[in-house]
Amino acid sequence: MTTLSSRLRPGSRFILAAAGTLTAAGLALAFATPAAAQMTGGERIYFEKGQCNQCHGKAGNGVGDDPRENGANFRESGLDKETMVMIISCGVPGTNMPYFDKFSYTDDRCYGMTSEDAGTDKPQQPISTFLAKRDIDAVADYILETFVGKGPATPEELAPSAAPAAPPEPEH
Ligand code: HEC
Repeated sequence: MTTLSSRLRPGSRFILAAAGTLTAAGLALAFATPAAAQMTGGERIYFEKGQCNQCHGKAGNGVGDDPRENGANFRESGLDKETMVMIISCGVPGTNMPYFDKFSYTDDRCYGMTSEDAGTDKPQQPISTFLAKRDIDAVADYILETFVGKGPATPEELAPSAAPAAPPEPEH
């Protein structure tokens, strides 16, 4: 009786082993992708989901990528993470800085003010979309790591190519 292994020549066994190795490499690659995506999570929120760059600029210097807009210069910001998260969640009353937490001003969690208390000073809603708490956290980290305390923007950072080339669509 002929078994499968006896029909395989020694060379075939090598090919099978090599195929196994390729599969392992393919899997390693597949697992590397989500990790890489996670690393740029805050950046994607800054440029895509939150469109912070429209007002704060791709270099975080407060010169908006939308020429009609400007925002705070993060390079000169002295804010700690906690305060930054609060400002992103609540916006800045009486300015163009939107609030990105959809529950803000439904109660007095922001500066002790409800929608009614804030009146016409109530910050505007995002130009893009509200953000989940973990997104607000990630974009605060991105700002702190990328812009805060980094000194004035260099010509390279201000060059159009400094904006990330069309980031991949978020996975659905
Ligand atoms: C429509 C314009 C606009 C957009 C969009 C915008 N901001 Fe702002 N942001 C401002 C303005 C204007 C200020 C300054 C408010 C003030 O005068 O205190 C500001 C202030 C801030 C501050 C306080 C900085 C400091 O040092 O005082 C943080 C943090 C901030 N923005 C984060 C963000 C993040 C993160 C996003 C995107 C998720 C974003 N902003 C989107 C206009 C904008």
